Amino acid sequence: MKRKGFIFDLDGVIVDTAKYHFLAWQKLANSIGVEFTHEQNEQLKGVSRVKSLEKILNWGTITLETAEFNALMSKKNEDYLQHIEKMDASEILPDVPRILELLETQNQGIALGSASKNAKVILQKVNLIQKFSAIIDGNGVTKGKPDPEVFLNAAHALSVEPKDCIVFEDATAGVKAANAANMISIGIGDASILHEADYVFKDFTEISSDFIQELIKK
Ligand code: BG6
Ligand code: MG
Repeated sequence: MKRKGFIFDLDGVIVDTAKYHFLAWQKLANSIGVEFTHEQNEQLKGVSRVKSLEKILNWGTITLETAEFNALMSKKNEDYLQHIEKMDASEILPDVPRILELLETQNQGIALGSASKNAKVILQKVNLIQKFSAIIDGNGVTKGKPDPEVFLNAAHALSVEPKDCIVFEDATAGVKAANAANMISIGIGDASILHEADYVFKDFTEISSDFIQELIKK
């Protein structure tokens, strides 16, 4: 059987931490007088911490000195870390373990491709870290999504050609990154938002074992 590379985004794909990022950014934006809607949040999904703050400041036409900028970055992360402090396996999204186990029994490559610098901490908290043979996170890239670097690094770490990789993503920026990497992109979430993906499912409960087998055989 062919060994493909299955690359998972973390926030909003494996765990529902997208809601904690939203709460932390909303609090920060409001604290500096910038309105923050769900539509704006969509544009921050998959985007690095630095780029996210740059966007928020841009929306509020605010310019800051480096020291103030860094202080806000730390504040956001402290707030976020408080939200994730008590996370455990109960916050793994539905059927993620089923898909990981299926891939494992089929000897497929499994990697993480996340923009987050907190990725390893979260995978440890939810007890999934041992499932990933490669972890590329926000500490392992110089260019964030939609640049394909994170997924290309993951493919390299798995020793699988990019064209033989499949990416699961909940963010527009991540789908664009997967497409730019010449990989199969699978959107997890709203099809009207993730329309650039090759396939879209509401969540992993909609992904059948047969579909995974087809991807392996492709
Ligand atoms: C992505 C999230 O996975 O990681 C973004 O979708 C987040 O919302 C980014 O900003 C960076 O995360 P962190 O944990 O390094 O601030
Ligand atoms: Mg995500």
